[in-house]
Amino acid sequence: MVLAQQKTVKSGFDVDSVRRDFPALRLEPYGKPLVYLDSAASAQKPEVMIKAEARCYRESYANVHRGVHYLSAKATVAYEEARRKVAGFLGAADPNEIVFVRGTTEAINLVASSYGRRHVGEGDEVLVTTMEHHSNIVPWQLLCEEKGAKLKVAPIDDRGDVILEEMEALLSERTKLVATVHVSNALGTVNPVERIVELAHARGIPVLLDGAQAAPHMPLAVAALGCDFYTMSGHKAFGPSGIGALYGRKELLDAMPPYQGGGEMIRTVTFEKSEFAPSPAKFEAGTPNIVGAIALGATVDYLEALGMHRVEAYERELLAYGTEALESVSGLRLIGTARHKASVLSFVLDGVHPHDIGTILDREGVAIRTGHHCAQPVMDRYGVPATARASLALYNTRSDIDRLVEALGKVREVFG
Ligand code: ALA
Repeated sequence: MVLAQQKTVKSGFDVDSVRRDFPALRLEPYGKPLVYLDSAASAQKPEVMIKAEARCYRESYANVHRGVHYLSAKATVAYEEARRKVAGFLGAADPNEIVFVRGTTEAINLVASSYGRRHVGEGDEVLVTTMEHHSNIVPWQLLCEEKGAKLKVAPIDDRGDVILEEMEALLSERTKLVATVHVSNALGTVNPVERIVELAHARGIPVLLDGAQAAPHMPLAVAALGCDFYTMSGHKAFGPSGIGALYGRKELLDAMPPYQGGGEMIRTVTFEKSEFAPSPAKFEAGTPNIVGAIALGATVDYLEALGMHRVEAYERELLAYGTEALESVSGLRLIGTARHKASVLSFVLDGVHPHDIGTILDREGVAIRTGHHCAQPVMDRYGVPATARASLALYNTRSDIDRLVEALGKVREVFG
């Protein structure tokens, strides 16, 4: 197969210019130009985000919502402005529907602890799918164990598509929440979330969508979609680590009890009783990740300027190129061939353990992830202990894919 060294594809997206925004992409591990294909684990950072963090610490840092002084007011304005930016990025109608959290894991734990504890009782059910990340399984297991409820699992087919008829058949008056991933980190499947919301809402069941792997790759419109909760992680969307967002419909957030107690989430406190602040402050106990939120806001500005529709179109072409290139590698089997995919190329290679693939590729300057990707039930579904996973982002190119294929050739040289 002749693999083209073409960086600008039909979408007209200027990937060379985008790459210049990411300093880490100039690194040369082992003397070889870095090919970073592990963005699903965590994405590299644009200079604007790095600078926004430094600027914040230099020029506008103090605690938020607490001080009467200049710096506190400046930090508070920037923090709340970041909330507005994230709301816009997710397509939420009201910034107060955005709660800053550590990331998707904390967002789901918040919903399980607060909404879940109040609404899920003995004999009730929470419905997930086979392709969930552990962060969208374990919080529900803990809740179900505490409440005597059941975790139900909608199956997926061999391609990695959720079997919608079976999912629908699992919805009942016992189902108190559907919690599913928007884009699978292990398979790349883009779930038909509009249809899932429609099916659940037809029975009055709220829906949480784990958007950790969707937010970096496509435009989002949570209000139009009508989901009840949506989560994102800053670090996967080119923002800082340790910051993310939970979107919750206002009526739901307003009615939910606090998740953690502490400063800033209260209206009044006496030793007899405390009254809580309105959401989202009710869910942001303690000093938040002020700089993380502000730098996430700067990242979101950067992404909006690139245009998420253009990012999506560019990545669609790149994923098609990568799929075809990997299918040409002898003995390689793609795990996850859903009709609608984003970003992820998970695979196994005959006779080679994924960790060996990862180690040899690393020496060629190609960074991928190997393992179960925090999605062990997916590995079980395909009967494999682990996969090798190349994950794409807006700064990857066809030449990155070519380097991956070349490096897989080295794996074959070693293992025959
Ligand atoms: N959830 C992250 C991944 O998919 C860490 O690699």
